[in-house]
Amino acid sequence: MTAQIIDGKALAQTIAAQCREQARALDRAPGLAVIIVGDNPASAVYVRNKQRACEEAGFYSQKIALPDSISEAELLAKVRALGEDSRIDGILVQLPLPPHISGARVTNAILPHKDVDGFHPQNIGALALGKDEGLAPCTPAGCIRLLESADVAVSGANAVIVGRSNIVGKPLALMMINRGATVTVCNSKTRDLAAVCGGADILVAAVGRAGLITGDMVKPGATVIDVGINRLPDGKKITGDVDFESAAKIAGHITPVPGGVGPMTIAMLLANTLRAAQAARAASAAA
Ligand SMILES: NC(=O)c1ccc[n+]([C@@H]2O[C@H](COP(=O)([O-])OP(=O)(O)OC[C@H]3O[C@@H](n4cnc5c(N)ncnc54)[C@H](OP(=O)(O)O)[C@@H]3O)[C@@H](O)[C@H]2O)c1
Repeated sequence: MTAQIIDGKALAQTIAAQCREQARALDRAPGLAVIIVGDNPASAVYVRNKQRACEEAGFYSQKIALPDSISEAELLAKVRALGEDSRIDGILVQLPLPPHISGARVTNAILPHKDVDGFHPQNIGALALGKDEGLAPCTPAGCIRLLESADVAVSGANAVIVGRSNIVGKPLALMMINRGATVTVCNSKTRDLAAVCGGADILVAAVGRAGLITGDMVKPGATVIDVGINRLPDGKKITGDVDFESAAKIAGHITPVPGGVGPMTIAMLLANTLRAAQAARAASAAA
């Protein structure tokens, strides 16, 4: 069997076009503020890509570049000021932050209705309660949209997520539970990873280890979502956590890297910013 490729790049373009269209219906463009602290080159690339996507969608975007030496108190003050700024509907603080700054305290300082990364405890709590998912984290939300686009049934599926991080594995597990999957979340201590993965109808790899998941770990016909981004030794090309060549021979559907989850993460950031903007306009109309 040769798997069907789920084209995240094409889907992301469609979602971005829809966001652009819906943004036009608002009295004022949705506004996103992106804070970047320090000069991590990977973070700089991510921020540039997010800003470019915003501009292409006709959103207002503001980049706030701060030095590594900034104190936590100064950063928190900046985040709170953006919370008061009516041009800004969404606030994103690019991770990682320098070690002297608590990521948790910074995340908590973002108003939940402007938390377009979906990491605030109130938004994660909404996912856990499973009623209204609110602003969900972008990468897991992107995974769900990829599954929907390929008509892969989540309800009733055995889903295995490899990786238990707060930004990918855990929130994705909650979203899949909400949709009726039977979910197993693996980590570095999981015994016999291959056997656990082999039982998955939907297998998600979110680890950060190139080629960890090989074709022999994939159930025939399963859907494989590769979240991993690993830089190849040439420093330019990226590859996923899944050994694409062997897995694609066994899986029913598979996402490529690049061109799978990556572009969807940015598309979901646009979708969250639009949603935050729509909610803000509705709230001010009702006031
Ligand atoms: N495409 C995108 O837009 C996007 C977005 C976010 C992240 N990513 C990529 O996704 C990957 C994961 O990111 P993350 O932030 O979630 O990483 P993370 O915080 O480092 O978490 C990695 C997880 O993988 C687990 N793990 C490590 N080795 C393992 C093994 N041999 N077997 C099973 N589990 C293992 C770890 O287990 P322990 O908890 O036990 O240590 C941890 O839970 C990275 O490559 C990252 O670049 C991509």
